[in-house]
Amino acid sequence: MGELRPASSLDWRAFASLLHEAFRDVPGGRTDRATLAWYCRDVGHALEVLDADADPRAAAPLCASLRPRLAGAVVVLPRPNEGCAWLEVLAVASHARGRGLGHRLLSHAEARAATLGFARLELNVDARNHPALSLYERRGYRRLAESGHGVRYGRELPTPVPTSLPPPRDPPTTAQRFTRKVLFRLLRVGELAPS
Ligand SMILES: CC(C)(COP(=O)(O)OP(=O)(O)OC[C@H]1O[C@@H](n2cnc3c(N)ncnc32)[C@H](O)[C@@H]1OP(=O)(O)O)[C@@H](O)C(=O)NCCC(=O)NCCS
Repeated sequence: MGELRPASSLDWRAFASLLHEAFRDVPGGRTDRATLAWYCRDVGHALEVLDADADPRAAAPLCASLRPRLAGAVVVLPRPNEGCAWLEVLAVASHARGRGLGHRLLSHAEARAATLGFARLELNVDARNHPALSLYERRGYRRLAESGHGVRYGRELPTPVPTSLPPPRDPPTTAQRFTRKVLFRLLRVGELAPS
């Protein structure tokens, strides 16, 4: 389902909406305004999104195309001090789950980590989040540490990792950073939840 493409600043509203919907029933999942705004800073920086409306089979009614939806999103950030890349966000919209999108996004995250020059990808997951735990364990991730409900997982990446991803973008310009800052100020996440 859908096209996997790099996100842009235009995706911030759909991205916040996806996160709100995907995490609201996840144990330990946080969907408060401050958390969503924190994740939204990644839009257009290190994020790939699965564009639900790009799928011709999901013929979108007019109102949906005016308010674009995303089927999924993944964010990978470099953590050079820890010698790994970090899976910051992995989310699939609830209507699109169980069809392999989680696997697909995780594959891209691993490819992105390798493109960034890292041989290991790590993440945090809540120990009560069984679908996510199952996904990571099936993909060869191993428990590295536990703290409360939080579990840190990691996986050495096979080399070479096949990738069809475009090369990472240049860092944002001053003008882009300013625009993003203004957008985030305007962000009214409380109004983004799908009705
Ligand atoms: C975790 C998540 C990304 C999986 O996405 P998905 O598109 O449903 O995943 P897939 O269809 O690719 O399935 C991948 C694996 O996840 C596991 N899985 C998916 N749904 C599951 C469920 N309901 N129960 C148990 N395991 C499940 C299985 O191991 C599955 O592998 P398999 O099909 O080879 O057996 C999705 O449930 C989600 O977005 N959850 C909310 C956000 C979240 O928890 N993100 C991760 C935070 S660390």
